[in-house]
Amino acid sequence: MRRPILRYGEAVLRDPAGPVTGWTPELQQLVDDMIETMHAAPGIGLAAPQIGVGLRLFVVDLSVGRDPSALKVLANPEFVERHGLQCEEEGCLSVPGFNATVPRPQRVVIRGEDRDGRIQTYEGVGLLARAFQHEMDHLDGRVFLHRLKPLRRMLIERRITRLRRRGRW
Ligand code: NI
Repeated sequence: MRRPILRYGEAVLRDPAGPVTGWTPELQQLVDDMIETMHAAPGIGLAAPQIGVGLRLFVVDLSVGRDPSALKVLANPEFVERHGLQCEEEGCLSVPGFNATVPRPQRVVIRGEDRDGRIQTYEGVGLLARAFQHEMDHLDGRVFLHRLKPLRRMLIERRITRLRRRGRW
């Protein structure tokens, strides 16, 4: 089932998420819903807090559903390595209509549980490294705006405040 994607400003997007503690049928359903919601958006990543669930869980799929092997589900992820620097345009399904150049590591190694509860380690370079870091930020209560220079962030925040006042956010 597709779920509504919450927008920047919602408390659950600001709060650090809690650990996933067991692969219940409800959690499997949540993962299915996250994948469906990400693909429908369409987007290349979605974290549980974005649909209102404060758990350390995200899905990433650079192929947006075209290549099943590109789909990655990670619970309780942690970075094992982070190297280098890339600066590319980035957006977020919870901050629709806004993009910015965000500094990110060029290469990461991340480890977490897959949906069978098995520990998996993935290497991400370029866009995949960016996606992993972006989704990890969501689990820590951050969105890409928090990675911008203060002035750039303030300008975007101001525009969002205006949209919110008009009931368009
Ligand atoms: Ni996002």
